[in-house]
Amino acid sequence: MVDTIIRGGTVVTPTDTFDADVAIDGERIAAVGDGESMPEADHTIDATGSMVMPGVIDPHVHIDDMFSFDTYETATKAAALGGTTTYIDFAWQAWVGEMSPWDEPGTLREGIERKRAKAEEAVVDYGLHGAITREDRAVLEELEAVVDAGVPSIKLFTAYEFGLENGFMNRVFEALADLDAFAVLHSEDATICDDRTAQFQREGKGDPEWYPRSRPDYAEAIAADAAARMAMEAGCRYYGIHTSCRKSADVLARYRERYGEEMLRAETCTHYTTLDDSIFEELGNLPMIAPPIRKPDDIEAMFEHLEAGTLDVVSTDHCGYTKESKQVDDWWDSKFGANALQTNLPVFHDEAVIERGFSYPFLVRVLSRNPARIFGLPGKGTLDPGTDADIVVFDPNETYAITAEENASVADFSIYEGREVTGRVKQTFVRGELVADDGKIVAENGHGRFVERESTDWAF
Ligand code: URP
Ligand code: ZN
Ligand code: ZN
Repeated sequence: MVDTIIRGGTVVTPTDTFDADVAIDGERIAAVGDGESMPEADHTIDATGSMVMPGVIDPHVHIDDMFSFDTYETATKAAALGGTTTYIDFAWQAWVGEMSPWDEPGTLREGIERKRAKAEEAVVDYGLHGAITREDRAVLEELEAVVDAGVPSIKLFTAYEFGLENGFMNRVFEALADLDAFAVLHSEDATICDDRTAQFQREGKGDPEWYPRSRPDYAEAIAADAAARMAMEAGCRYYGIHTSCRKSADVLARYRERYGEEMLRAETCTHYTTLDDSIFEELGNLPMIAPPIRKPDDIEAMFEHLEAGTLDVVSTDHCGYTKESKQVDDWWDSKFGANALQTNLPVFHDEAVIERGFSYPFLVRVLSRNPARIFGLPGKGTLDPGTDADIVVFDPNETYAITAEENASVADFSIYEGREVTGRVKQTFVRGELVADDGKIVAENGHGRFVERESTDWAF
């Protein structure tokens, strides 16, 4: 006897699809197989006509801090409704919500404690990256404790007010290499982006179509080149976050060819695979994200590199902002970032599988298996018996229009508003518990857990 059987669906693994039932007992997958061989169950979910896939693992979201108005309650509900069963958020150096994190005197461990305390609001599981925002060498001394706390990846920014200079970043790469931890890189050359922004400000070019030109693709490629070179020289594993353009992906491909996938992995985000810069004419500042949404050829480059394997993962870079905070007169006064947790799977499925003919195993690799392996979540991202029963039941045929009216996030807009997509999330299970059912949250806050991650190698 088991708790639940998901019956009659098409199971998707990283390499295959086949018709099978999935049995869940407690928090784990008990069996995957023929209906005849399944044990009795207390509950049955009819998945006829649906795909049964591992839950999405989104390794790049911003919740309840300076890049988001979302709380853990609103964000994890958006995640559950969108088929995401685990996300990885950021722990800033002692971000307490009052001051800028780069002015704070605190530690990464305090940042981790602050976010760990959010579990009581969460309905899906979550992990954390550290984020270094100050060139204070004291942070190097605490990295070992941070890794031991289940946070083996650290985001380094080359841009924004808290971007790091190469000298300090180089030291961080060395320290991370010693701990067998890894760096997660936001790469944009700050001097180019800042100079162009200042020029556009002087010229009064505040209309949103000027925004992408303030952060050009070559600025992303230059910074990725410098950071990846330093990381490789230090023997530090490198994860290129939110890769947006051909020039930057080509740079990462070169390092990957030379140093191997054991040393370099990378992601793009759903918006860089689905939208081009004409969106700024349509939606003004709402799609303002850094790096910017780019040209149609860059979309093609994202798919070429996903197919070739330079890009391993598709994330959201979810930032829960309101329309009001984005719709300001000049783009430079707008917040950076957009919400996507709830729409990610349907939008990417529609673009990759329906429009471009990629397979369901590809979908599972870039949304679930690869992020689980890269980010040290061995019990997730798969439907293998014995692993966490984090499962999404997905109707691949239903067509509907995206609307922010359905958002669980505090964000009251969608950069995909009105977009017709095929594919809808029917049910989401997190560790065996049904958390979202047909567009409704059915779990209590607090079902979600902080997941201590391991530093696992990247040979897969
Ligand atoms: O515009 C963005 N991407 N906001 C979030 C911060 C970041 O750089 O990831
Ligand atoms: Zn970033
Ligand atoms: Zn981000």
